Amino acid sequence: MKTQYYTASSLDGFIATEDDSLEWLFSLGDLNDSSYPAFIAEVGALAMGASTYEWMLRNADMVAAETGSPWPYTQPTWIFTHRPLPAIEGADIRFVHGDVRDVHAQMRTAAGAKNIWIVGGGDLAGQFHDAGLLDELIIQIGSVTLGKGKQVFPRRVLSPTLRLTAVRQMGGGMVELRYEVG
Ligand SMILES: NC(=O)c1ccc[n+]([C@@H]2O[C@H](COP(=O)([O-])OP(=O)(O)OC[C@H]3O[C@@H](n4cnc5c(N)ncnc54)[C@H](OP(=O)(O)O)[C@@H]3O)[C@@H](O)[C@H]2O)c1
Repeated sequence: MKTQYYTASSLDGFIATEDDSLEWLFSLGDLNDSSYPAFIAEVGALAMGASTYEWMLRNADMVAAETGSPWPYTQPTWIFTHRPLPAIEGADIRFVHGDVRDVHAQMRTAAGAKNIWIVGGGDLAGQFHDAGLLDELIIQIGSVTLGKGKQVFPRRVLSPTLRLTAVRQMGGGMVELRYEVG
């Protein structure tokens, strides 16, 4: 029953370009060859920020072509935003804003014995960390650099340090690092 931030980052620490493109990511490996299938099977609730959700809206056709649905998640999902955003057909979503602690309690109830996935972005994951609610970071580092973009985890974590628990190489294009929050 963990709260996990699972994401892919460039080597220099960005999860998207400045204009929210993920094109750099798709050539690096196949999701089905990664830890993702085992990971998502244990997820009972998701949270994401507005930019991440808007990426799903913009790329609904591509997502549908690859997964068979414009919204690939069956689990309930909380979208953090201050703005009215359109819903996606068939998606079990609720729009929320403000303190992550209240939302986390709702997510915990919904997830039951399963894990909570903070999809991103980095600051939203940071808000859960600030509240002492983040248990694990699972970061797939792609063998590319972007120079600038949306930061993977814009927080200073010095003491206690994160605790590296696993390293898994996925060919030459990716390495997955797992950290427990100390
Ligand atoms: N590489 C990967 O695996 C991966 C994974 C996830 C996401 N991404 C990408 O990374 C980018 C992330 O974008 P981002 O860094 O801008 O983060 P984001 O968390 O997706 O979006 C940030 C926005 O979420 C809203 N928000 C965040 N916390 C809130 C709160 N407590 N209450 C209300 N609203 C809140 C605000 O939007 P408003 O105030 O404007 O409503 C804020 O500007 C996206 O392009 C996404 O597609 C990549």
